[in-house]
Amino acid sequence: MTQDELKQAVARAALDYIAPKLNDESVIGIGTGSTANYFIDFLAEIKADVNLTVASSEASADRLRGHGIPVVDLNTVDEITFYVDGADEADRSLALIKGGGAALTREKIVAAVAKEFICIADGSKDVHVLGNFPLPVEVIPMARSYVARELVKLGGSPVYREGVITDNGNIILDMYNFMIPNPKATEQAINNITGVVTNGIFAMRPADLLLLATEDGVIEKKL
Ligand code: 5RP
Repeated sequence: MTQDELKQAVARAALDYIAPKLNDESVIGIGTGSTANYFIDFLAEIKADVNLTVASSEASADRLRGHGIPVVDLNTVDEITFYVDGADEADRSLALIKGGGAALTREKIVAAVAKEFICIADGSKDVHVLGNFPLPVEVIPMARSYVARELVKLGGSPVYREGVITDNGNIILDMYNFMIPNPKATEQAINNITGVVTNGIFAMRPADLLLLATEDGVIEKKL
């Protein structure tokens, strides 16, 4: 199977997982990226059963609305029942690297509000230690050089993601050459740098369920 076929398979598995659990009060958090896009397209098949969604990016909100699926502002709901999103890497503790699509801050906010976070990924994202994928860090523009120097002190090699402005009006530094054996501590340390909005380690609030697409089918991983 191609990577794209694996992404479709895992998006379909997420739909099969949540569909029987939906009711008229459910709110579905929707992630960002190519795997999340497949999920959105499959969700359209059951849109009559979808009460509300909250999107983690303008791009996902546009795609949902294009299918006629209702999207609301996060501030209008108390809780998100399920949050379905992709990842760039996932380790055994279900800690993730996210933000390849520059949506990490809104994704982290939606994850914080979600009762159940279902991460959907193809098998290539399954790692022992996070960090081969360059870690995205969202930064207030005027703090770019200062934050970059601080990230170097932590041992990484930050690279400015040229031409990318996040939905929040900020920039992204991608941290290369930086393995992450202690995701919670590293997540906190980077977030403590003044000027950092957030970083792409999802360890303080990891996934609750990882659906991983392999050649042998979709595997479920839970803590
Ligand atoms: C966007 C993300 C995505 O979930 C992550 O980059 C995975 O993307 P894809 O499903 O296209 O492989 O975090 O900010």
